[in-house]
Amino acid sequence: MYLLIPAAGMGRRMGSQRNKLLLTLLGKSLLSWTLEAAFKSHYINWIGIIGQPVDFPDFQKMISGLSTNKSIELIEGGSTRQESVYKGLQALPPEAEQVLIHDGARCLATPELLDRCAEEVVKCPGLIAAVPVKDTIKVVDSSGLIQDTPDRRNLWAAQTPQGFEVKLLKECHEKGRQLGWEVTDDAALFEKCGLPVKVVAGEETNLKVTTPVDLRVAEFILTEALKKEEG
Ligand code: CTP
Ligand code: MG
Repeated sequence: MYLLIPAAGMGRRMGSQRNKLLLTLLGKSLLSWTLEAAFKSHYINWIGIIGQPVDFPDFQKMISGLSTNKSIELIEGGSTRQESVYKGLQALPPEAEQVLIHDGARCLATPELLDRCAEEVVKCPGLIAAVPVKDTIKVVDSSGLIQDTPDRRNLWAAQTPQGFEVKLLKECHEKGRQLGWEVTDDAALFEKCGLPVKVVAGEETNLKVTTPVDLRVAEFILTEALKKEEG
């Protein structure tokens, strides 16, 4: 299975001077944790890390310090996540039929989740990992007034991995570029093209490390997970 890891962001909401994926979490970079989960997956054998060239020396150093028998490629990303994934898709080997896309910033995803998605993606055109939302979600207009309260039972929080048939996802990306669609995940492109996207059970602990608070929460989750592993 082919895996693309978008890792070309700036981490603006983290407020750090550089890519947040190079920040340290319990002695290892966020990206190292993400890569280690991918290394432990039974199905993934090719990993494309999508990054900004300025970060490549750090990425290289990181990869050389980790042991794996999987193929790893560094791919130059773009100015948005959508653009980065587009470039990642162009860099896939031609024989790739399905692809999983997993954000570098979701560094707590387990190998089991990656494997669950890898097993499912060969059976459907598109899928995402997601969890039921815990908060009540409000639709609010620009004047700050609530317009709607959607039934929470129908609401799911999208995560990654997301997985797709490569040919279809490439077509959706092309159409999105032509029509100027701006989306924050790949499933949205699929949906806009009228293609079905299945939901696979995600993990409550699979948070996207976005702000400094997330980093502290991630540290706690990881510490607990390591204790469990040892005990
Ligand atoms: N990403 C990417 N290319 C971009 C922007 C984002 O590959 N041009 C990646 C990030 O590295 C991250 C994932 O997409 O792994 C999810 O993005 P996000 O959490 O928003 O990360 P950043 O864009 O780095 O953070 P921010 O939006 O706060 O600047
Ligand atoms: Mg971003």
